[in-house]
Amino acid sequence: MQGSRKYANCNVSGACIADFGHHVICVDKDNIKISALNAGEIPIYEPGLDEIVQSNVRQGRLSFTTELSETLDEAAAVFIAVGTPSRRGDGHADLSYVYAATREIALALKRFTVVITKSTVPVGTGDEIERIIRELRPDIDVAVVSNPEFLREGAAIHDFKHPDRIVVGTHDERARALLAEIYRPLYLNRAPIVYTGRRTAELIKYAANAFLATKITFINEIADLCERVGADVQEVACGIGLDNRIGPKFLHAGPGFGGSCFPKDVRALIKTARDHDVPMRILEAVETVNDTRKRAMARKVSSVFAGLLRGKTVAVLGLTFKPNTDDVREAPSLALITALQDMGARVRAYDPVGMEQAKQVLADVTYCRDPYDCVEEADAVVIVTEWEQFRALDLERVRDLMACPVMVDLRNVYRPEDMKKYGFAYTSIGRLPTHEPVKLVDAPFSIAAAV
Ligand SMILES: NC(=O)c1ccc[n+]([C@@H]2O[C@H](COP(=O)([O-])OP(=O)(O)OC[C@H]3O[C@@H](n4cnc5c(N)ncnc54)[C@H](O)[C@@H]3O)[C@@H](O)[C@H]2O)c1
Repeated sequence: MQGSRKYANCNVSGACIADFGHHVICVDKDNIKISALNAGEIPIYEPGLDEIVQSNVRQGRLSFTTELSETLDEAAAVFIAVGTPSRRGDGHADLSYVYAATREIALALKRFTVVITKSTVPVGTGDEIERIIRELRPDIDVAVVSNPEFLREGAAIHDFKHPDRIVVGTHDERARALLAEIYRPLYLNRAPIVYTGRRTAELIKYAANAFLATKITFINEIADLCERVGADVQEVACGIGLDNRIGPKFLHAGPGFGGSCFPKDVRALIKTARDHDVPMRILEAVETVNDTRKRAMARKVSSVFAGLLRGKTVAVLGLTFKPNTDDVREAPSLALITALQDMGARVRAYDPVGMEQAKQVLADVTYCRDPYDCVEEADAVVIVTEWEQFRALDLERVRDLMACPVMVDLRNVYRPEDMKKYGFAYTSIGRLPTHEPVKLVDAPFSIAAAV
């Protein structure tokens, strides 16, 4: 009976579930977001989302409202997909939005309903959601399920429609059957559904993100060693990634991970583990190494100028935490730019879609029209986000526009030998710079150093 069920939900998942043929009502407290969506505008940048939203709205399967109560008349399931940011002060996941939404849902329930947590929530949150609902509505039967979301911003539609797996955490057979119905198109496409307990499902999400964050941090530290010993981190990544036990993904060395998920989820898992007297030392190291790394990237820039950045102009290409999103939450660009400014540099910046978001958190930055406007008269250009358009820059034009042809490529977009040909002093991650190597006293062999 696809299409006859209604689901109350909001976000990319909501649009994709509607695209499967179900009826979805997206609820958000944010009037501005809902008015924009009702006017046909998508409030976030996510490739392909506008087409899916428009087509499902047109076909009458997707609608938007700020009023939760009116959506639960016919809904078979409610997804909770509100934010779970880091709690100010202690780094625990802030569950206030989840519990507020839970209370609102409880009061609006009309009959047996499956309440599904899509938000990333610490182990045991489902138990508390169930407790709250049962306390507020002892008259209504509910099944509370954990169904964590694994999609990546910037590739969210693809990931939702081609998941590696769907995790369904509940032992309630009615809820399992409903989730199987919701995800039937994916199941038919051979996406495995992992049925498990609710607490296990909650932990799977954190363990997955923590593992990926660890993999990134591991290759970043290997990159630092590569720079010291004259090895190439990309070749190391290839060499270890071909091992099936390791795999090639998430082995791209860079300026450290950011975004709306990894940093907060690593922090939250560390806190949960501590609360249960199981300290997670590896993750504690991952968090510290990553935090330090973002700011350390500014030293990579200053070292090109022998530590003297005061009065220099630095052009920053890319502000979002990764390409194809407008999200700048915990982006490496934020710590880098602040550190550059602390060192006395003037910062010019360009990002294809992230500048409006960046303006809300960064002061004293000159925002530019395009990459060429950004590099004009700059003493150094830093590539922070690997947007497609930064991969194909007219390098002669860039060099000629700059006051000084220095490029610090934090995403290894270009090849050092090419950059040398174009006449750049080029520094990247985990590879030798193109500057002249200097002989260090007491070093066992000659290594490259910034001039
Ligand atoms: N963004 C991602 O790519 C991604 C991927 C996987 C998992 N997640 C998880 O999904 C959750 C949501 O992430 P996000 O990035 O979309 O968060 P977000 O903060 O961008 O959006 C959350 C939305 O919830 C709304 N909201 C808050 N309380 C509400 C309430 N009571 N009723 C209705 N709406 C309410 C807010 O107005 C906001 O629009 C988080 O737990 C996150 O960890 C996100």
